[in-house]
Amino acid sequence: MCIYSESISVLTTYEIANRIKLKMKKKRGVSNSKGIDSASYLPTGVRLWPLKRYLEMYRSSLDDPEGFWSEEAQKLDWYKTWERVLDWEPPYARWFVGGRLNASFLCVDRHVKMWRRSKVAVYWEGETGETRVLSYSTLFRDVNRFASVLKKLGVGKGDRVAIYLPMIPELPTSMLACARIGAVHTVIFSGFSAQAIADRVNDIQAKVVVTADGGYRRGKIIPLKQIADEAVKLCPSVEKVIVVKRTGEAVPWTEGRDIWLSSMLDDAELFVTPEPLESTHPLYILYTSGTTGKPKGIVHSTGGYLVFNHSAYQWVFNIKEESVFWCTADVGWVTGHSSIVYAPLSHGAAIILYEGAPDYPTIGRWWDIIEKYGVTIFYTSPTAIRMFMRSGEEWLQKHDLSSLELLGSVGEPINPEAWQWFYKYIGKERCPIVDTWWQTETGGIMISPTPGIEPIPLKPGSATLPLPGVDATVVDADGKELPPGKTGLLIINKPWPGMLVNIYGDPERYHEAYWSRFPGSYYTGDFAMRDEDGYFWVLGRADEVLKVAGHRIGTAELEDAAISHPAITEVAVTSKPDEIKGEAIVLFVTLKKGSSPSATLRKEIIQHLRQVIGPIATPDEIYFVESMPKTRSGKIMRRVLKAVASGQSPGDLTTLEDEASVDEVKRAYASLKRVSKEAEADVEVRNPRS
Ligand code: WT7
Repeated sequence: MCIYSESISVLTTYEIANRIKLKMKKKRGVSNSKGIDSASYLPTGVRLWPLKRYLEMYRSSLDDPEGFWSEEAQKLDWYKTWERVLDWEPPYARWFVGGRLNASFLCVDRHVKMWRRSKVAVYWEGETGETRVLSYSTLFRDVNRFASVLKKLGVGKGDRVAIYLPMIPELPTSMLACARIGAVHTVIFSGFSAQAIADRVNDIQAKVVVTADGGYRRGKIIPLKQIADEAVKLCPSVEKVIVVKRTGEAVPWTEGRDIWLSSMLDDAELFVTPEPLESTHPLYILYTSGTTGKPKGIVHSTGGYLVFNHSAYQWVFNIKEESVFWCTADVGWVTGHSSIVYAPLSHGAAIILYEGAPDYPTIGRWWDIIEKYGVTIFYTSPTAIRMFMRSGEEWLQKHDLSSLELLGSVGEPINPEAWQWFYKYIGKERCPIVDTWWQTETGGIMISPTPGIEPIPLKPGSATLPLPGVDATVVDADGKELPPGKTGLLIINKPWPGMLVNIYGDPERYHEAYWSRFPGSYYTGDFAMRDEDGYFWVLGRADEVLKVAGHRIGTAELEDAAISHPAITEVAVTSKPDEIKGEAIVLFVTLKKGSSPSATLRKEIIQHLRQVIGPIATPDEIYFVESMPKTRSGKIMRRVLKAVASGQSPGDLTTLEDEASVDEVKRAYASLKRVSKEAEADVEVRNPRS
């Protein structure tokens, strides 16, 4: 999807900048008198806006990363100061070596100690309308007691705990409880199926699984305990399953293994000393999709991750303890880890945790929440914005959104139309938008406007400039830096504190996926372009990874799941542009002898994918084909498939498939176009969870 066009206007950027300036009193004084020489940080030909504070910080962060990050790290509380800021033995970075700290202490105890005990930490809103408000002292109590339960069950430092919960307060509580005792959590998105859970639990050999009797989604109960049970059958490492009561529904029970959380809390200790953990101790493992069928267990450290996120949320969101921060992602994704749990709580802010669907029971639900809790920072996805855009502005007029100060977008490129709508109708033309580019692997935001440093002129569709410490560039296939206006691959030249430390159990893949293509630099897998102002435009994935409604999913993962359907011989997955979801999944399948295309089979295949992966794997379209278009060496011509799926003309396709001749590509394209699409078949298009 191309989101950049010459005609995009630079939206009244100075106006926005001036408004922010009025709002935000900069804490630190800035010396502008010296004049900033930024030339060495920008490709030739790049013009500059007169950004002073940002450039000063950016320059010092790249000139002296250790000095810079050492200063940032001092904003956190450490049990023991680090001996070295960075050990960099490519591709392994160890940040704040020798330092000791604890994430749960930073996010909870610190605020209680600073006499903010009665301050709100969590506003929870259930889909069914009930609410819970947790002050920092309540959070402190809950985290300690949960940590005590884990300890009593034999969980200790370094043990892995899998968390499969709906968006209820016990989700952040259990994460912080793990962090308190040095256990490593893996949160599994509550939309994943039993098989997907089992794969993750087995990969990390988790001892304990935390789940709930159910969760609500669009008025329906998702039977999480049942799904977890199915998974745990396949997981010999699991000794205990902790069950949180949410719905009160009857659930299957395995005596000796399953434990109600509530039954343990009465006898739990009231205080569990936070473990002073090595900075390099893993805080969590989070699975994400790559180019093979097996998801990658991304490992994040404690010290580097927390320092990076703590600083980034001040720079990007200007977050303060009085902020009411709502990130609408699910905690099951990295966005939720950093933007719901660790960063806002490390700042002592209040977070919103909303359990349900954005449009349930009405399309006004989110605006109601903003009004009800006085949300000041609202961080969401382009998919959500596009969905609301489609439903019109009528619902917005019923709500007072004047508490909003700053808006954020994340997860996929935002098209300028959606940006403008967000700016106009949600921000009422008074809130700047931060379009934040980052990844599960980067741990925190990498490219984004930084109004907390100084107002950065905004351009709808551009994530603007890299954060201090982030040495981002756009290069060609040979790693040569590209001039402004040229599209290439986005890479990061220096390690940064939030970066992943490894792929769990697979260091070779870690090296291969991120560090082998451009030695010494981190390969993001994204296409990007830098414009003449030095701004970054991230255009989408350059690999076989899809972004469907902002969710990341690999084509190989989908193909592996589809091929296990008994009627399928061969399958290739691609995507087509989707007005709301950005991209939609498209399957090409060839069938075994005896099976023939039908609407029923189509439904069955969709159901199969939902069963094996989860509802996020729902395809929008399935093409039944006689044979796959292949090159002479047997490689599927994926771009031909993509062109057919997207309804593009074969135009310049011919140059794209390396080995195939022009004629071959054209023939393949033409024969696929003839394919019977069974136009009348009623394919289920909507993905109910997205
Ligand atoms: C991929 C990472 C951590 C954010 C949640 C997604 C795409 C993310 C943007 C943005 C354009 C973006 C990239 C990236 N992406 N943010 N602001 N503009 N593209 O994390 O699931 O690991 O996906 O999301 O393609 O590589 P993720």
